[in-house]
Amino acid sequence: MPLTSKHLLGLHGVPREDIQMILDTATTFREVLDRPIKKVPTLKGKTIVNLFFENSTRTRISFELAQKRLTADTINFSTSTSATKKGETFKDTVRNIEAMKVDMIVVRHQSAGVPQFLTRISDANIINAGDGRHEHPTQALLDMYSIREKLGKLEGLKVCIVGDVAHSRVALSNIYGLQAMGAQVSVCGPATLIPWQIEKLGVKVYHNIDKAIKESDVLNVLRIQLERDAGVSIPSTREYHKYFGVTKKRIDNFNKDILILHPGPINRGVEITSEVADGPYQVILNQVTNGVAVRMSVLYLLGTMNTNNLR
Ligand code: CP
Repeated sequence: MPLTSKHLLGLHGVPREDIQMILDTATTFREVLDRPIKKVPTLKGKTIVNLFFENSTRTRISFELAQKRLTADTINFSTSTSATKKGETFKDTVRNIEAMKVDMIVVRHQSAGVPQFLTRISDANIINAGDGRHEHPTQALLDMYSIREKLGKLEGLKVCIVGDVAHSRVALSNIYGLQAMGAQVSVCGPATLIPWQIEKLGVKVYHNIDKAIKESDVLNVLRIQLERDAGVSIPSTREYHKYFGVTKKRIDNFNKDILILHPGPINRGVEITSEVADGPYQVILNQVTNGVAVRMSVLYLLGTMNTNNLR
């Protein structure tokens, strides 16, 4: 069965079956990454452009690697070396790139809604690699993949997203995706970093990290996004760490197995200590490896589908 959309703009409204298919297909590609020759000809002849208007390490390299592993032709666009610096508009930039016969566009942008806008001005498959504070669907998919890989399931698990939920695009995609897969999602942080009325999304709210650790199977720990003015929402990063930092001592208090995820980049000593970030409960680098397989899966499923009659 094909996916129900020719784009991946977010996980809001994406059916469970689509997520299941992406994760299951990623399992096949994960195996390819362990082979001596890590390449398959699946997207040979397809051209994919990575439009990154905002900084990225993991997502950009991971998408590029996924495209190369699938034998697609890859082009990287960077704002600092492009004609946008000469005043060219976003729309003109995209139309010119598309005129070169591009099949798929992976886009990261500081403004929410840019991937959606692209679907109106381009015929290519559009994949959201993070738009403002809105969504980051492939991050949530690789988070779900990594949880499922370690714990064998998503259904019924209690997953708590800890930290700067208010400025996060990872949080919203995780909430939508995990709920679609039957997990119980909660958030934990100071009231100033938790969006107002988030409970309406069916999410439990903790303001006490110890209680969140005690009642959860998985913690997905988020960075304080100082570049998005999160600093004005807390007295200091030191105080944040004192009340909400994920530490070994806090985990050891409950003498239980808990899985620790972090999308990166990590601010060590703020939202998480090095002892936990490098410790036995975390799967942080597994997430990065799995990210390549999950992105291969998304590119493959979108790039090979018959797009007639799809939204
Ligand atoms: N997790 C994530 O999106 O990291 P980058 O900003 O490095 O891509």
